[in-house]
Parts: sequence; C-alpha cells; structure tokens
Amino acid sequence: MRKRIDQLNESIHPEELELLGWLLDSWLMLQPLIPVLTTPMPDRETVQRIVTSFCSQNQICDSSALVRACQGLPEGEIELVLERSLAFAYTVEKLADLVLDHKVNKLRGRGLEFIAEPDVPDAGGLDLLDESLSQVASLLSPEAQKYGLKFPKGMILWGPPGTGKSLSAKLAAKKMGVPLLAADWGSIVGASRPDFALRELLELTQALSPTILYWDDFDKGFAGWDSNADGGVSRRLSGKLLTWMQEHEYPIYIVATVNRLGMLPPELIRRFDDIFFVDLPHEGAMYEIFNLHLQKYFPEFRHASISPWTDDEWRILLRDYRLCTPAEIGNAVRKCAEEIYYRHQVRGQQPDELKVTLDDLRRQRYQFTPSMLRDEEQILAIRNQATYAKSASGEDRSRFSLPLQELFG
Ligand SMILES: Nc1ncnc2c1ncn2[C@@H]1O[C@H](COP(=O)(O)OP(=O)(O)OP(=O)(O)O)[C@@H](O)[C@H]1O
Ligand SMILES: [Mg+2]
Repeated sequence: MRKRIDQLNESIHPEELELLGWLLDSWLMLQPLIPVLTTPMPDRETVQRIVTSFCSQNQICDSSALVRACQGLPEGEIELVLERSLAFAYTVEKLADLVLDHKVNKLRGRGLEFIAEPDVPDAGGLDLLDESLSQVASLLSPEAQKYGLKFPKGMILWGPPGTGKSLSAKLAAKKMGVPLLAADWGSIVGASRPDFALRELLELTQALSPTILYWDDFDKGFAGWDSNADGGVSRRLSGKLLTWMQEHEYPIYIVATVNRLGMLPPELIRRFDDIFFVDLPHEGAMYEIFNLHLQKYFPEFRHASISPWTDDEWRILLRDYRLCTPAEIGNAVRKCAEEIYYRHQVRGQQPDELKVTLDDLRRQRYQFTPSMLRDEEQILAIRNQATYAKSASGEDRSRFSLPLQELFG
C-alpha cells in the first residue's frame, strides 16, 4: 500500500499525500487492537434442521452426507449454497459433493492446502486399514453419539515411501464424506508467530468439522525437536497440539503419515488411537494394485471378473515386481501407457483404445531399481520396527499367495 501511495506521489497534492500516509500508519498501529468478530457456526442440530427443511421443500430425501457437507458453513450460507447447487445436482449425493466443493474452495482462500482427489479409486491390499477407517466413518453418524460413543482422535500411518499412506488419507476423507485439510508442521513451526499460526489452524479446523486434519510427512517437521535446535518451539507447539487433541470434542480425525515414527515425541504418539504400518504389498495386493492402475489406461482391464492374462502369466509378472512399492507399480504402468501411445503416434495410428502386453510391463520393470534395493538399509530399518504397529494389510488369501518363506534374512 505504501508503494501504491508513493506511486500516486505525482498525481496527488502533497498535503493529501501526508494525510493518507498518516491514516495508513494509524491503521497499522491500531490493527492488532481491533477485535475480529466471528459469527459462531451453527451446531449439528441446527444444520440438520436447515437441511431437512430445504429437502422437504424441494421434495428430496435428506442424507447424513449432505448434513456433514453443510457443517462448518454459516446458516445463511448453507441455504444459499443448497439453493444454488440444486440446479446442478440430479441426486442428493451430487448435491452433497457440490456443497463440499464449495466448502473446499472457501478453505483454499484461507491459505489452507486442500488435497486433490486420489488418483486411483481404491488402495490395493490395505484391507485391515480400510476396515478400521470404515469403523471411524460409522462413528461420525449422530446415532453413534446416542450410545455414548466418542469420536476417535486419529491414526498414524507409518511405513516406507510409496506404500500408499497419503493415498489412504485421501481415500479416508472420501469414505467419510468430509474434507481433508492438509497442514504442514514445518511451516507452522517456522511461521513468524508459530503459536498464533497453530491456534488459527486449529480454530479453522474446528469451524469446518467434521473433517480430517492431515499432517503429511509429520516426522519431517519434528527433526531436531528433542535437541531444542529450534529454540524449543516444536516441543512447545507439540504440547499445545497434544492438549488440544486431549480436550476438544469436535468430530475431527487426525491422520498423520510418517516414514520414521521414532522422530515424533513419544507423548504425542500415545495420543493417537491407532498406528498402522503400511508395508510393501504381498502378491494378492500387487495383483489388485496392478489392476487399479491398468484400468486407468487400458479398458480391457475394467471387467473385474475377466482378465486378458492367465493366472500363470500374472504369476510371472508378480514375481518380476516383487519388492516394488505400489507407487513404483503405478509408475511402471503409466510409463508403459505413455510408450504405447507414443508408438502409435509414430506410426500415425489412432486406435480406439490402448492395449498392453505382459512383455511391455516386464520390460518396464528392468528400467528402474526398486527403492527397496536402492535404499535397502533405510527401508529395512523402518520395516524392522514394524512390530510396534498394527498391519494395514491382512494375510494374502488370494490365489497368488506364496507359500510361507523368509524374504529378508
Ligand atoms: N495401495 C495402493 N494401491 C494402489 N495404488 C497405490 C497404492 N499405494 C500407493 N499407490 C500409488 O502410489 C502413489 C503414491 O503413493 P503415496 O503418496 O500414498 O505414498 P506414501 O506412502 O504417502 O509415500 P511417502 O512416504 O513418500 O509420502 C499413489 O498416488 C498411487 O498412485
Ligand atoms: Mg506421503
């Protein structure tokens, strides 16, 4: 603004300019003293009442997903958004999605990062984690509170890189029908007023609840916390986060992803209800992961019950990709699709759909070294502590399961 005033210098009278400068300085001085008045958000019952009345006026069934999508919006805004979105929604699910989109865009304007849609509709092989998330989602319903059940605090997803921790957080938000708010511990600790930054983030999260508060790569933000290298800021803030987690009664579920669990303060780890270890996939999980990614580019893989390849061909492929992470499998499939497309381009062909062969994928496998081999020591160090956590995937019951054997000596 100062700069702007200086630019006006030539076109404005010097006395007026001085007055403007004085006004600006006074405003800057007074700004911290001006109270910010916020309208309290309506409680769940009020939101439910507004949604039910809107739905009955428009002859649509109300749904708990729609009520959840409207929570965290002021009363007047709920009615406006419902009114506006109805014109574009054919189903109540679509209506809930549109309201959620509106809430998400509002968040973006407030500097909180909102996480994009997951790139696959499911996470292959993480059945136990998935079941636990379904349980958390069921506790979101108001019926659960009638039985005196409290909303759980959160979970830590721990494991080597590329195993699906961030993907699971995104899918969890979808499953629960709530927004996923991504917060970055490192930037809060490094903010000019870290205590204020944390308080503001937690207040905003409360206003937007129900929501998932997602701390991605949480361990990275805690580097050096115990040596007080940051002047004790991280330690003090984690104490505040801890107290907040203990005391708040909002339906806010925290998902924190970490590679190295030992980097977090132990008292903070204890506050979480569950710690899941997300490991490299077993054969059955790899089969699911391949199919999830192949379906994105090659339509012949979209029929769940018929695969273009025989089980024996699949076994060859799964053996080749043993020790690869789901992220590496996803990348290999994407690269194959890109190369196949390019081959058609060079020949001037435009086929109706792309097709991939087993050999395309086998060749792709030899184009990279899996991180499990590249960073063997670090990954083994992570995996060796896995006994402290619950496993995210159950036993391999697929037809591709291997007889029990020791993979890592
Ligand atoms: N279980 C899975 N099923 C299908 N695809 C997966 C799975 N896990 C990972 N992927 C693929 O790998 C990509 C990267 O995974 P993700 O970001 O979840 O890894 P991460 O465990 O969070 O790794 P990091 O520790 O490096 O943050 C996903 O976007 C998805 O394409
Ligand atoms: Mg991640």
